Amino acid sequence: MSVGVVIPAAGQGKRMGSKVSKPFLLLDGQPILVHTLRLFETHPQVDEIILVTKKEEIRGTEEMLRPYGFAKVKAIVEGGRERQESVYMGLQRCQSDWVLIHDAVRPFVTHEALDCLIREVKATKAAILAVPVKDTIKQINSDSWVTSTPARSELVSVQTPQGFSRDLIVQAHQKALEDPNWATDDSMLIEQMGFPVKVVEGEYNNIKITTPEDLVLAEKIWEIRRVEV
Ligand code: CTP
Ligand code: MG
Repeated sequence: MSVGVVIPAAGQGKRMGSKVSKPFLLLDGQPILVHTLRLFETHPQVDEIILVTKKEEIRGTEEMLRPYGFAKVKAIVEGGRERQESVYMGLQRCQSDWVLIHDAVRPFVTHEALDCLIREVKATKAAILAVPVKDTIKQINSDSWVTSTPARSELVSVQTPQGFSRDLIVQAHQKALEDPNWATDDSMLIEQMGFPVKVVEGEYNNIKITTPEDLVLAEKIWEIRRVEV
């Protein structure tokens, strides 16, 4: 039973505010996207990778990636305006029985975390990486008044990859097309179907590079990793 990875990289990077698209920003001299792809290219259980970029960046991405020879990258496809649309476009090209969906801008997920996640996905059909929240989280209303404080012990901060059986996640995406609200992660679409999703404990270093200060943090995490290896 094969494992595929869909990597959405077609975002606008509004919160980063850089001229260069976020996945192409450099981390230790190489594009963030290259670091992310390398993690999956070198993972023994991964069979295929479908990359999703903006239409106007497909050609440039192909050229940029050529010297790296990532043999598992089977297709680079055009994304949509929302992340959910980009993921759906990638899913349509994915042929594997199991699919991991992973943000292009999370270059620090480890092979150990992937091993645990894949094991759980195969057992449950839907599993996601997450870490316990460190801060107390408040629910607020539109006027910034606190409405409640959920128990911290029951909260986790969700990451990617999120893994599913392909049939299940394709069905969830198709169903969600009828809904006017966009989901911020793929698990939400499965939850909306009433299907149980299992949480696998991830690592705090698996950050999503979102704002300029995340890039500074990313360089630090990279340095620490290099010393550890
Ligand atoms: N993404 C995508 N297609 C979109 C929106 C997002 O493929 N229409 C991808 C991004 O490229 C990124 C991942 O989804 O790899 C997570 O999204 P996020 O960190 O929010 O990136 P952006 O949407 O690019 O950033 P912002 O929300 O600040 O504009
Ligand atoms: Mg976004």
